[in-house]
Amino acid sequence: MKVILLNGSRREKGCTYTALSVVADTLKENGIDAEIIHAVPDTATINAVAEKMKTADGLVIGSPVYWASPSGEIVSFMDQLAGKAGAALVHKVGATVASARRAGTTATLDVLNKYLAYHQMVSVASNYWPMVHGNTPDEVRQDAEGLQIMRVLGRNMAWILKCIEAGKKAGISAPETEAKVMTNFIR
Ligand SMILES: Cc1cc2nc3c(=O)[nH]c(=O)nc-3n(C[C@H](O)[C@H](O)[C@H](O)COP(=O)(O)O)c2cc1C
Repeated sequence: MKVILLNGSRREKGCTYTALSVVADTLKENGIDAEIIHAVPDTATINAVAEKMKTADGLVIGSPVYWASPSGEIVSFMDQLAGKAGAALVHKVGATVASARRAGTTATLDVLNKYLAYHQMVSVASNYWPMVHGNTPDEVRQDAEGLQIMRVLGRNMAWILKCIEAGKKAGISAPETEAKVMTNFIR
């Protein structure tokens, strides 16, 4: 089983990456393959992630807080990924992670969680809303509570993935999807 973790920061190896690394390491310790991808919203990267999501079992969307919101980069990336590969997200396991110096994390998570909800993803929680605090990777490494939140998130995600896998082996697969009804206007 494999989880793709998207780093929606302009900084490839910054605070968001540091938080996602803890989630990825914990997943690996629990027998789940994990790959962190720098989510630059260009066509090549979006297409590559769209392809990987066809076989991946889970997705973690990570973003720094920019102006009390997710980065423009991750919003652009997810808008395009959802358009290209929305079907590959359906019924998979998902989580979101935010990194901030101080404020705007829950507003950021609210936006990112909407991508999970629309695609009927199984949303994984931790022992607090999944955030870390810091301006540098070193500061994030000093955020003991944030690091614990990331570890618990990774363990919970591995557990849910294994439960779904065990369910499949016992004959319980994802429910049928209905063709989407879109009522854009009523007259
Ligand atoms: C354009 C910009 C806007 C930011 N806005 C906020 C903010 O509203 N609240 C906050 O706490 N930190 C803010 N920050 C700080 C980052 O959220 C924080 O340093 C984060 O951990 C950086 O993660 P990264 O290293 O993965 O980019 C901002 C940083 C930038 C570059």
